Amino acid sequence: MTETALSAALHRRNDARPPVWMMRQAGRYHSHYQLLKRYNDFMRLCREPQLAAETALGPIHDFNFDAAILFSDLLFPLEAMGMGLVYDPGPKLDFHLQTLVDVEKLAGGAERATHMQFQADAVRLTRQRLRPDKGLIGFVGGPFTLYVYAAAGSHEKAQHAVAGLTNGIYDAFNAKLLDLLAGNMALQSRAGAECIALFDTAAGEIDAAMYGRHVVPVLADLLARFRRLDPATPVTYYSRGTDASYWDQLAGLPFQCLGIDWRQDLGAALERYADRWAIQGNVDPEWLHLPADQLELRLREYFERIRALPAALRRGWICGLGHGVLQRTPEANVRRFVSLQREIFG
Ligand code: CP3
Repeated sequence: MTETALSAALHRRNDARPPVWMMRQAGRYHSHYQLLKRYNDFMRLCREPQLAAETALGPIHDFNFDAAILFSDLLFPLEAMGMGLVYDPGPKLDFHLQTLVDVEKLAGGAERATHMQFQADAVRLTRQRLRPDKGLIGFVGGPFTLYVYAAAGSHEKAQHAVAGLTNGIYDAFNAKLLDLLAGNMALQSRAGAECIALFDTAAGEIDAAMYGRHVVPVLADLLARFRRLDPATPVTYYSRGTDASYWDQLAGLPFQCLGIDWRQDLGAALERYADRWAIQGNVDPEWLHLPADQLELRLREYFERIRALPAALRRGWICGLGHGVLQRTPEANVRRFVSLQREIFG
């Protein structure tokens, strides 16, 4: 089987057109998703592998993205640990971690990863139905982001979770989480995900020094555990609100691709890190709300700037957004993004 553009880019050897996909490409902005949601709630779309595969494939068929992403959510490990989980429509847990007694109530460890078997089944079915030249991405949440949800209920409330970083709650949570999460990643990679994305959306809510102290060692631990289960599948690490002062601290960790948000300069990130990591990103999701002519101008300028870089810097670029597709994004703009990217890099 020939290598997908996604896989070639993850290994920084893609001399063809850079692959393009978007976080949240299967979501509320898309009529295909809206139709599926009329008859099934979000949980059912995640938990029924046939439905999850259908949901993930919609944007591939409609927009011709180069990669699909598992349709699921990153909070299921918290449910597996016993925190309950409903979407209403945002996520709600039965309780938040406020004391060590709350953490003691949680289940954890490698065996609990079997709770996420439905994700492995969804990956397998998605792969079966996906054209062989399209890539397939699995994902989990970063430990810090999962901790912030467990402690505070949403990543906007990260400040409420900061005390737990030093009073033992975060450490006790991670002691239960890490084998479960590494097992969750391995379930997805063994089922056929070519890459596992670690979405650490909340990481930029703390400063770079705290990030170095509290996030980096836990990521290193998680990745070491995953590597014992799966030495080879590439991992993409995405965080939001971070910059080089955070990323420089990740040198040497066994992940292959760095996802950057829209506030950072893609050219600068490629120049600084292209010999170390593939780089994923980073168009501002808000651009997709612009009138068509303005979107066209901005995207042309963005794409042409990257095209003008030496080919060696572009071999590991994975084209997409700096965060997820926003809720009321017009489909026509997503379609134009993908077709223009093909025209310019084709
Ligand atoms: O197409 C894809 O990218 C795959 C599916 C996917 C979903 N969530 C489906 C979803 C992915 C990759 C995620 C990741 C995710 N989930 C993140 C990290 C990325 C990010 O956006 O920062 C986070 C923080 C979550 C947690 C989560 N799930 C929240 C905060 C919410 C509610 C608010 C929101 O942004 O939608 C969800 C629900 C959710 N996850 C929906 C979808 C399609 C919406 C469900 C609905 O109401 O229809």
